[in-house]
Amino acid sequence: MDADSLLNPERRMLRVLQSKENHEWTLAEILNTCEWQDQAVAVGAGHGLTNAGFVSTTETSSEVIRLAEEGVKAKQNGLLEARLWKWISESESPNMGSLQTQFDRHEAGPGVGLLKRLGVLLEGGVFNSENPSSVTVEIDARSAFLNSLPSGPDSLDSSLLEHFKSRRGLIESVISTTRTWSITSQGKAVEPQSLVEKQSITEITTELLQSEAWKDADFRPFDVTLESTTPRTGRSHPMQALIERVRSIFLEMGFSELVDDYVQTAGWNMDALFIPQDHPAREMQDTFYLENPKSIDIPENLTDAWGAIHEHGGETGSVGWGGSFSAETSKKGLLRTHTTVNTIQYLAENPTEACRVFSVDRVFRKEAIDRTHLPEFHQIEGIIMEEGANLQMLVATLKTFYAKMGYPEVRVRPAYFPYTEPSLEIEVKWRGKWLELGGAGIFRPEVTEPLGISSPVLAWGMGLERLAMLVLGLDDIRQLYISDLEWLRNQPIL
Ligand code: PHE
Repeated sequence: MDADSLLNPERRMLRVLQSKENHEWTLAEILNTCEWQDQAVAVGAGHGLTNAGFVSTTETSSEVIRLAEEGVKAKQNGLLEARLWKWISESESPNMGSLQTQFDRHEAGPGVGLLKRLGVLLEGGVFNSENPSSVTVEIDARSAFLNSLPSGPDSLDSSLLEHFKSRRGLIESVISTTRTWSITSQGKAVEPQSLVEKQSITEITTELLQSEAWKDADFRPFDVTLESTTPRTGRSHPMQALIERVRSIFLEMGFSELVDDYVQTAGWNMDALFIPQDHPAREMQDTFYLENPKSIDIPENLTDAWGAIHEHGGETGSVGWGGSFSAETSKKGLLRTHTTVNTIQYLAENPTEACRVFSVDRVFRKEAIDRTHLPEFHQIEGIIMEEGANLQMLVATLKTFYAKMGYPEVRVRPAYFPYTEPSLEIEVKWRGKWLELGGAGIFRPEVTEPLGISSPVLAWGMGLERLAMLVLGLDDIRQLYISDLEWLRNQPIL
């Protein structure tokens, strides 16, 4: 390698190394002589010179014992046992009750254990030791041990080292690498004049571009192979990023977005969708009913129409569910259990205009939290209403959506929902397995006719968190919402 292509820090370091030919240079010596603050510059230059054959690097790795987070605190405030022992020695009647007033609960508990192992026991309700001076000696030795860190393990007292290793968070062992550099014969042969630091341009400014000086300028190339720190900038939460992606796919497919409230009535959430009033999913253990508003008014013509449908099928030719329909039940306030509550209201307001509408929004179900369930989650909902809309179109739309999401293998299977016929379950192939992501179907006449909806309506509702688990490769849905910063930083940009 040619000395001409050396970078400025490499030139400076090689000049320094040439000044003392048979010397092993330590990092501190290099920093000092080269007048650098940043050890990364020295290590980088040493690396470059070694690759060029001008320098040889000797690396030695060794274990270092240093203070961990709790250890740093203990060094500042004193070890827990030292503080306890001081309190015992100074207190008139050091008993359990006063200990609890002087020390936090998270210290008092472990503290008693520590004292016990030092031979300080509760006797007649008072802390006491048979041999107070040996307690002091031991505690002082422990404090001195912490003060002597960082240190190599070999120069530490081995029993104290074992002791601290068994306690949480006080000390930690790290491998530290020390480097020394010495010049090679090739390095010695480099002509001093080729080691003059050159002015090279590292930043392109408007002035530079306007002045035309750039034409003869010497630009410093970027070395994109070097490791660098990742800048900690703000970015969207992966769930938000996923919502944006889903949104842009539906917009691209010609849909408009519907955004609506999650406080709804049982009437729209269930009755309008021909979900029978005694359906188990309506019960308190599945649905969050509200105290306030406990009930929300619904126009009588609607509850009458739903009542007729539920009791005997209205004008649709259906036989309905039978039994008697309660308008009071319709008016109950609840947190929506699916976003279909919003698409059905959209249709009720726009019963005759062909449309493509979607939403990505929050729903609530009384679920116990576990690996695959949350009481609050999101659904990706959509409808297409137009003359001639059919099952094939529904399946094609869902396949297009998942293909755009990056999942080309989609299948549908027969399913059941009270409001659709036929009803489908949508499954996506992921890592060789079929995973169920949602439901779909064509709204039944019992749903569309009372609202005056004139054309077939294709509808679907899919779980967003389920999809997020696929996209992010998660096996626990809770990971999405625990705000684990380390995890969040490492998520791909969606
Ligand atoms: N609402 C259904 C659910 O919550 C999904 C669905 C929507 C099914 C529209 C059919 C039609 O699971």
